Amino acid sequence: MQSITIEDTGTDVPILDLNGVSVFRSSKLILKDINLRVSKGEFVGIVGPNGSGKSTLLLSILGLLKIQNGSIRMFGQPPFSKQLYGKIGWVSQAAANLPRDVKITVRELVQLGTVNAKNMLKMFGNNNREQVNKSIEMVGLEDVQHIDIGRLSGGQRQRAVIARALASNSEFIILDEPLVGIDRDARNSLLKLLDNLCHEEGKTILMVSHDLTAMRQTAHRMIFLEETIRFDGDAKNFPDLSQLADLRGITHVHENMPSHTHAHTHTHSKEED
Ligand SMILES: Nc1ncnc2c1ncn2[C@@H]1O[C@H](COP(=O)(O)OP(=O)(O)OP(=O)(O)O)[C@@H](O)[C@H]1O
Ligand SMILES: [Mg+2]
Repeated sequence: MQSITIEDTGTDVPILDLNGVSVFRSSKLILKDINLRVSKGEFVGIVGPNGSGKSTLLLSILGLLKIQNGSIRMFGQPPFSKQLYGKIGWVSQAAANLPRDVKITVRELVQLGTVNAKNMLKMFGNNNREQVNKSIEMVGLEDVQHIDIGRLSGGQRQRAVIARALASNSEFIILDEPLVGIDRDARNSLLKLLDNLCHEEGKTILMVSHDLTAMRQTAHRMIFLEETIRFDGDAKNFPDLSQLADLRGITHVHENMPSHTHAHTHTHSKEED
């Protein structure tokens, strides 16, 4: 029997691999020595205080911000390499703030997601019809697909931008605060959708959110970021508030709360002789 050699798609190549990444913005150190490896099918949640560098991290991964040290690889490739076209979906922090006066329907917006450098010319054909239908259906916006996005609620708009990312058929979806400004029901259906994408479609998700409770319930793995990664592990082992204070090097103000008995702080204190 003749054996057929199948091209090695490298199942063990991580979807995302960051090594020793540091980022400065306006000569201020924002991210320091970030090491992060994400495998196919993982749902990774990133949390951290305002200004802790979460969006900076995502923008660096996307290649929109320059890194000063270290390396970033997606599917084994540096950001912006040709091999990554169509593989990465991005929902930005401002995605739901689409200008209200833009005359574009939900369907047209989603259709834009199918456009990439490779198929620009096909944009006006019918090639992507099914993909667009499926994406709209997945986020449950069939009924409003021909309505201008300016007339949608916050939650619907957020789902429309997610549908746009889905329409690109990306394997790796990166979302920055997709839960902001949407009500509880919309939030729950969105989380369910993202969870299904991981489990049923084998997508890999990296999502930033302030909603710690929602993240703990949905993400498999949680990262606490504040300049560097201070916790990275199973969502069910995510530290409680007092442990977080220790991780952040915050001293407890109440005397009956000893802060250093179990402190595993990652602060590197410089001791001078
Ligand atoms: N364009 C910029 N130029 C210089 N510094 C910036 C710029 N944008 C953000 N920063 C700084 O970088 C740091 C990290 O910002 P970033 O937006 O990554 O934080 P974040 O964790 O996403 O915060 P939030 O939770 O508010 O979205 C902040 O101190 C911020 O002031
Ligand atoms: Mg941000």
